[in-house]
Amino acid sequence: MDVNSQNIKSIRQPKIFNHPERFIEGWYWVIPSQSLSIGEVKPVTILGKNLVIYRGKNRRVVIGDAYCPHMGAHLAKGEVVGNELRCGFHHWQFNSEGICVDIPCLAAPLPLKLKTWPTVERYGGIWVWTGETPKQTLPFVPELELQELVSGLGSSFVVDCHPSILMTNAIDTQHFQAIHKLPLEMSFDKQELHQNAIIFHKNKCHNKSLLFIRFFRPLYKNPVYSICYWYGSTFTVTVGTDSLRLHLMMTLRLVAGNKVAVQPIFLTKKRRGFTGWLFNRFVLWLTYILLHYFLKDDVQILETMQFDLRTPIKADQPIMQLIHHVERQKPLAWKTWLLARSPDTPIPENQTKWRDEMTND
Ligand code: FES
Ligand SMILES: [Fe+2]
Repeated sequence: MDVNSQNIKSIRQPKIFNHPERFIEGWYWVIPSQSLSIGEVKPVTILGKNLVIYRGKNRRVVIGDAYCPHMGAHLAKGEVVGNELRCGFHHWQFNSEGICVDIPCLAAPLPLKLKTWPTVERYGGIWVWTGETPKQTLPFVPELELQELVSGLGSSFVVDCHPSILMTNAIDTQHFQAIHKLPLEMSFDKQELHQNAIIFHKNKCHNKSLLFIRFFRPLYKNPVYSICYWYGSTFTVTVGTDSLRLHLMMTLRLVAGNKVAVQPIFLTKKRRGFTGWLFNRFVLWLTYILLHYFLKDDVQILETMQFDLRTPIKADQPIMQLIHHVERQKPLAWKTWLLARSPDTPIPENQTKWRDEMTND
């Protein structure tokens, strides 16, 4: 089998991309911070796995497996006691590391542990790492990495397509013209930040309309458009000019029925003072408008398509590069969060390099 036929196979029969029961080990959005107050415990289902989430007296959030290691009661029926969680059935108690610290009818607890998962709070929400120890950082907007930020949450929604399909939309340059009527021709440079993050920067952008150039030249002198994908799910979009950038983070999660749950987060660098505060609000509002403008016409197409990139052309190259990037990450199985292995293929650690020239034009 030559390299090109291998590459075509990885595009048309991917093992992770667009797979209904697989996802990549990484950080995933759980719920907004404000929906979990101190002393509150709730059930959550993330990527098919039933979990319990609570916030202790010290404000720290703990996420653990849902079912009590004694007899399997759902721990969301229990109670938060200080920084610990007490099962509602026989009152066995677990600390924030999941260690059993009390069994009321025994003199000493048994050496038992409830499985807990790495958790952080950022951008107004709670995130979980779907493995033992986080190997990378939370998703961030590359150009805001070192900035103090202001964020706002959009309304969450579900789209009836796989997260992979929604992801490709941001680098599908042909549809910018066909659907959104943007008189621009765009191509990208890709840069892999590390194994779990890839950035696509706009490199060329030709305005196709004279009228457009005349009216908007001051705004589009140096247009910026870049997308960063994290763990083949969450992605950030930066769009704007030298003087004003809009930043959007789209957290995506595969949910039951092969659909995607989306939580948009609007981000901007923090500006100080009252006018700074006002301007921050204005920029976040503009980002909200941008999201709705770009999603409204796409959703009905994405929800009815059967993705199969049978005839890739040069303009589809970023999508192929993204698929290849996704395929090289660590796949976990829906519901169990255990390593997913294909019967026919070993987990690719160092796959053959993608050949960018493999297109049909
Ligand atoms: S089921 Fe939880 S303590 Fe018995
Ligand atoms: Fe779009």
